[in-house]
Amino acid sequence: MVSEAVSDTPELVTEDGVRRRDFINIAAISAAGVGGLAVLVPLISQMAPSADVLAASSTDVDLSAIAAGSGIKAVFRSQPLFVRHLTDAEIAKADAVPVSSLRDPATLDDRTQPGKKQWLITMGVCTHLGCVPLGITSDENRGEFGGYFCPCHGSQYDTAARIRKGPAPRNLEVPPVKFTSDTAIKVG
Ligand code: FES
Repeated sequence: MVSEAVSDTPELVTEDGVRRRDFINIAAISAAGVGGLAVLVPLISQMAPSADVLAASSTDVDLSAIAAGSGIKAVFRSQPLFVRHLTDAEIAKADAVPVSSLRDPATLDDRTQPGKKQWLITMGVCTHLGCVPLGITSDENRGEFGGYFCPCHGSQYDTAARIRKGPAPRNLEVPPVKFTSDTAIKVG
């Protein structure tokens, strides 16, 4: 028979063999669990994004007024978003570049939606140190490759917004994009 340590607390044993001290421990742990849950539930519901935060996490853009060769600057999650309508010549120029020659290899098809190659939607944030590149409208400096030119340190992006020259390490980021109609997109 195994001997037990001597204790001051009387050891009452219930019908199913559980000792009184075990009961107290189980009750205390259960109470802590329920209390913890009670704290956790409001905390989690407080952490869930509210309806207006959810709305701000996506951006709707009407494409109908954006002429080929131009683009608009919108805002997505508080950052500039470039929505550019490429011409056939700009598409051909992007397609003619050997992907293996690129610093951050990707095709224009990789960076646009299926069947919507003329719509190049990227963040308007240079991947070097975060300046806003020029070139979203045709009257701005688009640099040597016809895409975007970053005035801060001279990074140059092509007509698929891929980095081609200068210190930026990566292409302009492509956010999640969904066409909600032929002339409207939801970003985010
Ligand atoms: S931030 Fe654009 S080149 Fe430096």
